[in-house]
Amino acid sequence: MALKLLAFAAPLLLALPAQAQAPLAAQGCLGCHGPNGAGQAPVPALTGRPAAETEALMKAFRANERPATIMGRIARGYTDAEIAAVAAHFAAQR
Ligand code: HEC
Repeated sequence: MALKLLAFAAPLLLALPAQAQAPLAAQGCLGCHGPNGAGQAPVPALTGRPAAETEALMKAFRANERPATIMGRIARGYTDAEIAAVAAHFAAQR
């Protein structure tokens, strides 16, 4: 029984899309910024962007220092540590 379950579940696990591997804090970005954060017009790409740049933009959105339709509200839901993790994640994506 357990073996049967494993045989059934293993291919499913291997088939998980790449975005399932993004850290939890980055999952919430993919719906708008596209699979892997590669961007989907008109929402800009996050993929490959230097971490320091993403961090600075997120903090500017959070502080209401950068005009935004939606990012100001989103950024306010993220701590400094989460922003750093998300920025590092997207910087490492190709
Ligand atoms: C509801 C859709 C939505 C979600 C979710 C979202 N974004 Fe955005 N993002 C946008 C839009 C739209 C813009 C353009 C600025 C604006 O109008 O708010 C943007 C702009 C940005 C920019 C500025 C890019 C540039 O070149 O100006 C960064 C950085 C960014 N988002 C990061 C993130 C991160 C990191 C997450 C996840 C924590 C995220 N966004 C989640 C829609 C979204």
